[in-house]
Amino acid sequence: MIEQRFKCPNCQEIATFYGNPGETKVVTCAACNTKGRVIIPGEKQDNNVAIEVSHLKKVYDDLIAVNDISFTVKKGEIFAFLGPNGAGKTTTVEMIESIRTPTAGAIRLLGADTKTGFNQIKERISILPQEFHSFERFTVRETLTYFSKLYKKRANIDEILDAMDLQSHEKKLYRNLSGGLKQRVGVALSLVNDPEIVFLDEPTTGLDPKARREVWQVIANLRNKGKTVFLTTHYMEEAEHLADHIAIIHKGKIIAEGSLQELLTTYGEKTTLYIKNCHSEDARQLLEEKGFEAHSSGNGDIMVKIDYKEKVLEVLSELRHECIEYDGVDIRGSNLEEVFLRLTGARLTEEAET
Ligand SMILES: Nc1ncnc2c1ncn2[C@@H]1O[C@H](COP(=O)(O)OP(=O)(O)O)[C@@H](O)[C@H]1O
Ligand SMILES: [Mg+2]
Repeated sequence: MIEQRFKCPNCQEIATFYGNPGETKVVTCAACNTKGRVIIPGEKQDNNVAIEVSHLKKVYDDLIAVNDISFTVKKGEIFAFLGPNGAGKTTTVEMIESIRTPTAGAIRLLGADTKTGFNQIKERISILPQEFHSFERFTVRETLTYFSKLYKKRANIDEILDAMDLQSHEKKLYRNLSGGLKQRVGVALSLVNDPEIVFLDEPTTGLDPKARREVWQVIANLRNKGKTVFLTTHYMEEAEHLADHIAIIHKGKIIAEGSLQELLTTYGEKTTLYIKNCHSEDARQLLEEKGFEAHSSGNGDIMVKIDYKEKVLEVLSELRHECIEYDGVDIRGSNLEEVFLRLTGARLTEEAET
């Protein structure tokens, strides 16, 4: 809220009132009751927006690492920034965190322009950097207590241990923890200042599948606590599992953006219904005649492309009508890997390993 003054056009009396930039207010003069409409100067801010990035660019010598990207992160959502190694994820996230300086573009974080106002909002965010490490000889509880003392606003350590499912490990030394537990401590640390936005840069890289799922659970808990989460990852399953909104970055450019469903609908393949062990050319022809795209696989399955899962019943009732026998069915939907492949011609997992 900012303070504004209004000069009555009728009696010249000055009235003082408060409002937000860009807001229109009707002000009544206390002296003569004349009403006036006033627009408060400044850019209108959307209270639902946590991060707004416009035309952001970063050039290192002759490499354009981030190339004119724009996106918005809404409050309370898990936003996944998905892309292979070297795509520009860390560079972007560290520009938002004011660790690296952009070559061009603008960033608004919790309404503040990070070029001029980062100090005002820095205590309202927290960061788990890629390849996070902590003090080897501190216990889990000591680690959380130590870092919480760096901030004015502090969350309750017991509540964090509870939310991150770390109570049974609180007395263990950091150096004796497994990789998965270390990352869970990292996510727990990002809560010590009770932040509004949590930045997690590749929080599950290098973890085994079980540990990764446990970290996913604690990240989902962050959303349940009302935090906004900015998550970078090169694991498409991570984005599929956790994200409300996904931006796919490749060679410094955002090549697609939306909810998982939006991305799959726009760029994914159709769902495939596998009719197992059917061995019937008649069945394939019948389905073609009924307007389905059906192919025989070498091992006796028939693969039918369907737009949506309800079509499964239609296909099966056609087969029952003709008394065609088969062993069972399998439905395989599209996924982000396919979306990435279609957009770039490369596999996300392969690129990630190069
Ligand atoms: N400080 C730097 N100086 C020069 N090049 C860099 C620097 N940091 C990153 N890069 C390069 O910029 C590109 C993007 O890197 P990065 O943002 O770390 O990608 P990601 O986090 O998606 O793996 C890569 O080609 C990387 O080698
Ligand atoms: Mg990175």
